Amino acid sequence: GAPVEVDVGDLKPGEMRTVEWRGKPVWIVRRTPEQLASLKATDPLVADPKSERNPAEITPEYARNEYRSIKPEFLVAVGICPHLGCSPSTRFAEGPQPSLPADWHGGFLCPCHGSTFDMAGRVYKNKPSPDNLTIPPYEFLSDSRIIVG
Ligand code: FES
Repeated sequence: GAPVEVDVGDLKPGEMRTVEWRGKPVWIVRRTPEQLASLKATDPLVADPKSERNPAEITPEYARNEYRSIKPEFLVAVGICPHLGCSPSTRFAEGPQPSLPADWHGGFLCPCHGSTFDMAGRVYKNKPSPDNLTIPPYEFLSDSRIIVG
């Protein structure tokens, strides 16, 4: 599949855009400072905080950092649950929500078997997903343009 160019210049903090790359949804989320700060709080709650599982397939070198991204504010992730391939939905609201863990800090929820992921796509502990969400190959062409693939 061809690389996909995305303009993120008009994406506001807290907003997400989905593009299709190789038949898969790729999410681009412009994270708020609060969402970035929440990653410290979710560190002890996620199964693989440093993305050490299958790093070659799941987390490219440039995303092996605390934000799992090239630029902290932009998360770029494949929107497919590594468990059995469902598409998680977004739950960016802060604070406890019914049917979610009490220590929930927002992120993504897979409707199929309940895997939850934080704002860096890291899977919470004791969930069916064996891995964090995949970070695809991407780079910045400029401050506001990303190329995926
Ligand atoms: Fe997502 Fe099973 S497919 S939890």
